[in-house]
Amino acid sequence: MISNKDNNIILYGKKVTKTFGALRAVWNVDFKVKKNEIFGIIGPNGAGKTTLLSMINGTLHVTSGEIYYKDRNITNMQTHKIAELGISRTFQVVKPFPGMTLLENVSIGALFGKDKITNVREAQDKTRHILSRLNLIKKENVPVENLNVSERKRLELARALAMDPEMMLLDEVMAGSSTSDLEMIMGLIEELNNEGKTILLIEHVMKAIMSISHRIMVLHHGEKIAEDKPENISKNEKVISAYLGSRYAKMSWGNA
Ligand SMILES: Nc1ncnc2c1ncn2[C@@H]1O[C@H](COP(=O)(O)OP(=O)(O)O)[C@@H](O)[C@H]1O
Ligand SMILES: [Mg+2]
Repeated sequence: MISNKDNNIILYGKKVTKTFGALRAVWNVDFKVKKNEIFGIIGPNGAGKTTLLSMINGTLHVTSGEIYYKDRNITNMQTHKIAELGISRTFQVVKPFPGMTLLENVSIGALFGKDKITNVREAQDKTRHILSRLNLIKKENVPVENLNVSERKRLELARALAMDPEMMLLDEVMAGSSTSDLEMIMGLIEELNNEGKTILLIEHVMKAIMSISHRIMVLHHGEKIAEDKPENISKNEKVISAYLGSRYAKMSWGNA
């Protein structure tokens, strides 16, 4: 059973570990995400961020450790069951259904969503509303192959939203976006959070994740090296030497 009876905690990971052969992709990571929080995860490439997300939504099995969602043990549960409980995710490597339009791709999410829409027309209406929020409505009939990187990222976000999640796991949804798209996505995430959704956010765009996260966890070589408020994270010596140092240096040269 969950040892922490704080009912403010919606997602709880206990010594979550994933190894690939000798590689410790995620090692003994403990985390607690509060209800209605924006919880950021940062760390260098290969730190284990995506692997952790995949274990939370059941795409990957844990090697050891436990994950609880609303006091329920969801460790190694099937992905669709986890989605039914209210967790949806985006993929860093976008996986649209090829040969279908944007509208069709997102409508599938609506049909499999939590509120069990079974009517295609209704699913499309709901999808159009989401596409409008994401500034994608003009592209509804475009085959997914013809979307650019930022549009594909927003397609992922739209698909996750169509499932009516209570909690969203977002894996680098801002990558490849222009400044205006970036601001739109940040605004949307804050809006969704204000509507009551809990957000777990992986992002390399520092100004974005630092400004919208309530707390940030830092992974390095699969281990948690820090967890704090953004203002403390940016001053943390361990974090600066493992990750922020080089990124901040790059930012000051204007190419991060
Ligand atoms: N399916 C896999 N098989 C083997 N190694 C993997 C697999 N997935 C990820 N890894 C390795 O696990 C480590 C963490 O990867 P990942 O979670 O993608 O990092 P991040 O998202 O922080 O960049 C990396 O060294 C990566 O190469
Ligand atoms: Mg990743």
